[in-house]
Amino acid sequence: MKTNGPDPGTRRGGEVRLMFSAIAPRYDLLNHLLSLNIDRYWRKKAAKALAPEAGKLYLDLCCGTGDFALELMKREGVKVVGVDFSEEMLRIAEGKRSGRSALKLAAGDALSLPFKDGSFDGGTVAFGIRNFEKLEEGMNEICRVMKKGAGFVVLEFPHKVGGVLGPLFNFYFRNILPLIGRLISKDSFAYTYLPESVGHFPADEELKELFARCGFELLSFRKLTFGIVFEAAIKKR
Ligand SMILES: C[S@@+](CC[C@H](N)C(=O)[O-])C[C@H]1O[C@@H](n2cnc3c(N)ncnc32)[C@H](O)[C@@H]1O
Repeated sequence: MKTNGPDPGTRRGGEVRLMFSAIAPRYDLLNHLLSLNIDRYWRKKAAKALAPEAGKLYLDLCCGTGDFALELMKREGVKVVGVDFSEEMLRIAEGKRSGRSALKLAAGDALSLPFKDGSFDGGTVAFGIRNFEKLEEGMNEICRVMKKGAGFVVLEFPHKVGGVLGPLFNFYFRNILPLIGRLISKDSFAYTYLPESVGHFPADEELKELFARCGFELLSFRKLTFGIVFEAAIKKR
């Protein structure tokens, strides 16, 4: 399946969903290849920051092929619901679930989650919120389904990678990554959309203010791997 690609400025939900569905079969391969496998380390770190507890229920939003949900599941007795709006991504996650009954997968849109208020003890989202058509609406929705005091960890590419390695990374992100992505996924747009969507994503301080407006307290905000990715730990007030 090929897509015309979503406009990174408007990120219409239907177009974003089609794009992720189109690349789903090659998503894991490209993820690990393009990040030199560092994506596994980012999810491990973020899961540690969340520190899920036995018997509690966690949401892994925009779960894609399920790697973050499965990372959370490594803790004994933890229950996880992975949600994504791409059925193709969920199908791959289902294959990896290998019958674990404490992991449920559900189709749903982050902007209108199919859960009651205060359903979860905590949650995660990795490389998902940058794609929301309406970021503030999505964060409000996450807050709604969390219990009071619930911890939530966001992993995402920041608006800008600075520092000494910034120019080198930006060159890779804008030129090499789309080329490899296009060759392997056979989708002309998905891996051009990735760096472009980052350009439309709020800068760090703006994002922290948005989290606060949506009902979250910021616990920590740290950059990983030379600032390529950020990990924000927030808590529902
Ligand atoms: C870059 S992938 C990240 C997948 C996974 N979290 C990971 O770490 O590999 C983004 C995922 O977010 C999903 N997604 C984007 N916007 C969404 C929305 N509004 N509601 C539900 N899922 C969404 C896409 O379908 C895709 O599977």
